[in-house]
Amino acid sequence: MTGRTAGVARVCPIEELPPGTMRGVLVDGRPVLVANVEGTLRAVDRICTHAEVDLAGGWLRAGTVTCPAHGSEFDLATGEALSPPAYDPLAVHRAFLQDGWVHVEIRSEEREGGKSLWTQRP
Ligand code: FES
Repeated sequence: MTGRTAGVARVCPIEELPPGTMRGVLVDGRPVLVANVEGTLRAVDRICTHAEVDLAGGWLRAGTVTCPAHGSEFDLATGEALSPPAYDPLAVHRAFLQDGWVHVEIRSEEREGGKSLWTQRP
């Protein structure tokens, strides 16, 4: 992964993220989940808001990701937690295609004030 601008990372060629797949990446040290939802690229924080489990080990289905630990579902477009035990949403980032590569841009407010759960650990 090669970052060109602060908060922006080139993730992988689009051929490596076909529709119906997702992968975990780091963008400036922040764990992000990027997914190809039937041709629409989505990016959200990848640490579950319930108990800090990596959502990259979960399941992608119909525009949602299901946490592998306790089964909360999150909407990949809005970050909303759709089912308990998670209630807090995931931060949503911008995913886009440029020159055949998937890119992720961390929202500016998240770069400035937000910290991932992983970076908050002692
Ligand atoms: S850690 Fe994700 S639902 Fe519990």
